[in-house]
Amino acid sequence: MKKEFGIFYGIGVGPGDPELMTVKAAKILGELDIVFSAASTKNDYSVAYEIAKTYIPPAAEVIPLPFKMTTHQATRQQARRENAETVLRVLNQGKNAAFLTLGDPLTYSTFSYLAKTLIALEPDITIKTIPGITSYQAAASRLMIPLVEGEESLLVLSGTQGGEALRKAVGKADNIVMLKTYKNFDHILATLEELNLVDHTIGISQCGLAGEEIITDIRRYKDHHPPYFTLLLIKSEGRRLNDICHNIVNPSLKVNCAKTSFTFGD
Ligand SMILES: C[S@@+](CC[C@H](N)C(=O)[O-])C[C@H]1O[C@@H](n2cnc3c(N)ncnc32)[C@H](O)[C@@H]1O
Repeated sequence: MKKEFGIFYGIGVGPGDPELMTVKAAKILGELDIVFSAASTKNDYSVAYEIAKTYIPPAAEVIPLPFKMTTHQATRQQARRENAETVLRVLNQGKNAAFLTLGDPLTYSTFSYLAKTLIALEPDITIKTIPGITSYQAAASRLMIPLVEGEESLLVLSGTQGGEALRKAVGKADNIVMLKTYKNFDHILATLEELNLVDHTIGISQCGLAGEEIITDIRRYKDHHPPYFTLLLIKSEGRRLNDICHNIVNPSLKVNCAKTSFTFGD
């Protein structure tokens, strides 16, 4: 007889506000036996748990998985394998389980590595994902800046390698979103300066979380890191800055474009 494994869910909890989780994510969480949440020694990933906790039944067991935030590939792979084995032990008992992920589980998420490692260990398990609102969708909403309009394009980049990705991308997309900017922020800023794009860029830290900051002038983070949860929205040619400024002047955002260094385009 074929073995019955529990189902493994990758659940996107959205960017911060628990009310931005989907109804489906809340429903599935409410029916689970086990919830896994990434714990890191360097970054507070338990923020995903904090967002989702009101939807997790008291009887469910919450297990932190220690993913190592290191550039050392072998150490990362070892952690992924150990964590996948932990998940598999639960699924082997026929229990359903979920892994919580900030934003969307298939957008720059530990979940996709975990899922691949699990499938390699046990190809017969069932994995389902529940999409979440990404950090950059939440940022666009917070700033009321369209991500794309008409025929425009959008490129999503990682800032882990500093500004190099930007240099390659510039001219190829009308709008760029850069995540994971905190570590190499200086290099990203220097590249944006070199490309004359600093005044086309707006940042947001801790979007929808405590300590949220809208960074109208990203030069303010010269020589020191912004928080880990910081992303940049970059518009290509100058004409779009009018839109950006127009929206930032919105009094509900409590920031005034006149105080920033934006230059207006044509
Ligand atoms: C590993 S990626 C996770 C992306 C996430 N899965 C998503 O769908 O947005 C982590 C990066 O996402 C961005 N990020 C996530 N949540 C954020 C928030 N609330 N405010 C600003 N940036 C955020 C930051 O750039 C952070 O370094």
